[in-house]
Amino acid sequence: ADDGAPASRETWWRRERGKLLQLAAEASPRYVYSLGQVRAQAQSLRALGTVDRWHYALKANPHPAILRALHEEGFAFECVSFAEVEAVRAAVSALPAERILFTPNFAPREEYAAALAAGVRVTLDALHPLQHWSELFANQDIHLRVDLGAGRGHHDKVKTGGVTSKFGVALEQVDEFRALARKAGARIVGLHAHLGSGILDASHWRSVYAQLASLAEGFSRIESLDIGGGLGVPSRPDETALDLAALGDALAEVKRAYPQFALWMEPGRFLVADAGVLLARVTQTKRKGSVSYVGVDAGMNSLIRPALYEAWHEIVNLSRLDEPSAAMVQVVGPICETGDVIGANRRLPECREGDVLLIAQAGAYGAVMASRYNLREPAEEVVL
Ligand code: LLP
Repeated sequence: ADDGAPASRETWWRRERGKLLQLAAEASPRYVYSLGQVRAQAQSLRALGTVDRWHYALKANPHPAILRALHEEGFAFECVSFAEVEAVRAAVSALPAERILFTPNFAPREEYAAALAAGVRVTLDALHPLQHWSELFANQDIHLRVDLGAGRGHHDKVKTGGVTSKFGVALEQVDEFRALARKAGARIVGLHAHLGSGILDASHWRSVYAQLASLAEGFSRIESLDIGGGLGVPSRPDETALDLAALGDALAEVKRAYPQFALWMEPGRFLVADAGVLLARVTQTKRKGSVSYVGVDAGMNSLIRPALYEAWHEIVNLSRLDEPSAAMVQVVGPICETGDVIGANRRLPECREGDVLLIAQAGAYGAVMASRYNLREPAEEVVL
């Protein structure tokens, strides 16, 4: 299908074109991040007011400069591995351990032991840790991740709820979890649910808060309800942005109904996706039958999202931004896989060897998911 030329939105990278072309001339491929854009997104969330604590889900982009900027913007951090805990502690000096939430899935015993020893908040999403490692949790405060029974998100692979998802404790096992926690001497002080990633419907989080709040009323010590991340950003030209005002209203409404709990959220993508671009250089062009290919030096080893989720990233020819679009092309990388397509069916100005293509919205789940497949080094990262 022809996705058509996306409406040309005003973006920071259009303003910074000269600087970006210069960066691409020095080295390619390259991820470039705008800290100003990260901060602006953070401020737009903080302005909602109703949320008592924002965590940044640093799996989206753990670049130290981004972690520091978000700490300065008042964000705490959500980590899914002990290496992420260590990364944020190395990046942000004197970060209090209680500002870190450790929310792993199927992590080994040692990681829970290390997190508890470091004093970070720990979320359990299975019975196993309490059944087999109960001594770790004696006299500890813990959070419980529940599976509310359904997943949401931009692709099936990023939905994290329902019986076929490996995340969370099923609602029918919550009583068993509570009994195990009591036996271990652990206090359940928070409930957590994250249904998936890339959600553009503002009413979603109201429903999660309401479900967690009614569950929490049956507990004695719940202080916080973490309603997850998953705040989407529009990628395809026909998608509309998450309505932040509507999100604020929905949360305020449900918070009035259950004011006794602190409301926590943990977005990743929303803060960083549009703050990053991937710059790549055209290596070769090819025509085969009726299909035209534009090859670039950034492949699925630098950005795997199109191959993994059929994710759509806007692509422009930064060297010829003002020239009219020509034929439809397949923008492909140099990796030996048929799926190494960064952008299928794009209309771009005619591309020549050496042109710089900009792949937009690459700040979230870009560099951090990169690999050395084919022994090609993935794009390096630069912060503006
Ligand atoms: N909290 C938990 C427990 C999560 O598992 C995730 C993401 C988040 C928060 C943050 O979600 P976000 O606000 O960024 O949507 N690689 C995929 C996304 C995977 C998300 C994994 N979990 C992608 O590129 O679309």
